[in-house]
Amino acid sequence: MANGLQNWVLMVTAQTPTNIAVIKYWGKRDETLILPVNDSISVTLDPEHLCTTTTVAVSPSFENDRMWLNGKEISLSGGRFQNCLREIRCRANSVDDEDKGIHIKKEDWDRLHVHIASYNNFPTAAGLASSAAGFACLVFSLAKLMNLKEDQGALSAIARQGSGSACRSLYGGFVKWVMGNDDNGSDSIAVQLANEAHWDDLVIIIAVVSSQQKETSSTTGMRESVETSALLHHRAQEVVPKRILQMEEAIRTHDFPSFARLTCADSNQFHAVCLDTCPPIFYMNDTSHRIISYVEKWNRSAGTPQVAYTFDAGPNAVLIARNREVASLMLQRLLFYFPPPPATELTSYVLGDKSILKDAG
Ligand code: ADP
Ligand code: DP6
Ligand code: CO
Repeated sequence: MANGLQNWVLMVTAQTPTNIAVIKYWGKRDETLILPVNDSISVTLDPEHLCTTTTVAVSPSFENDRMWLNGKEISLSGGRFQNCLREIRCRANSVDDEDKGIHIKKEDWDRLHVHIASYNNFPTAAGLASSAAGFACLVFSLAKLMNLKEDQGALSAIARQGSGSACRSLYGGFVKWVMGNDDNGSDSIAVQLANEAHWDDLVIIIAVVSSQQKETSSTTGMRESVETSALLHHRAQEVVPKRILQMEEAIRTHDFPSFARLTCADSNQFHAVCLDTCPPIFYMNDTSHRIISYVEKWNRSAGTPQVAYTFDAGPNAVLIARNREVASLMLQRLLFYFPPPPATELTSYVLGDKSILKDAG
């Protein structure tokens, strides 16, 4: 500890982007460890646009672990936060900050408490993967604070225990979450398929159809699907394994038509699983359906796909244009057919390149 002083505070701030799955994760085989029923593949977004910023602080004067999300205190008693904190604390190492005169020994971490303040610069719990950016950022910043030596793969296995999709946000570019075989989850980790420079023609536009919090969280929704949807099990066993191989090949060879076909089909099948759930779950709304019809029509009339669409567990559209020209045309057309408030609730953000995790600490 710091020369007997009790009033020091050590802080780390990090920023983590969200990621959007192009082959979806939907269903767990283990609820506590968060082990999925299938592999998934995602693209990590540019952190300047949709990201979480988290500051973690430790001080001998803190009496409890506490967390604030978007300025409001939330409880850390949930299993997911506790699992992440436990996994990080047991890997913590000594920290020496000569300038501040702070010396924390490995064993000190068991009795030191942390304060966590996190902000999402985009709607929380609205189907834009706030849990992914949120838990990835939490794990990354705590790992820095507590001087963990683990590699990104091991950190991804910890982030996975906060929210499954979070394991993929620890890498930029295209990322695969390998479902793994081990009962303890040690091989259920994220791996980078290609970095952010690999396919930098692609432009992602997020059309925020509604920023309202969804009625059914992803966790609850997928639990109900696992229990009641026969389509989910067919998808996990028969459909996704083939799509994963095809998607990896499409990404490797910059094959946009295959990439778009697989992305749209997988989004549609995920939402079909939601409809096949009892009671059915409706994440998309009329505006989402109109966007799908619009993109399908455009792609058909162009002769080859220009734009891919995908929707997570919410009504908001993620549109991936094959290049900047298509993206600017698409933005013009979106604003024309789906004008922003007050006519409809649609607002659009143009996103540039995919990008890698940024350490703002
Ligand atoms: P989303 O589609 O936004 O990922 P989910 O239902 O999967 O929605 O998860 C939303 C939950 O994720 C929130 O209720 C909260 O518990 C958690 N979460 C969101 N943002 C953060 C954050 N920045 N830090 C930690 N947890 C977060
Ligand atoms: C539709 O990772 O939010 O976005 O693991 O229960 O926290 P939990 O669920 P979460 O589910 C994401 C579902 C999805 C698809 C995906 O991101 O792969
Ligand atoms: Co989520």
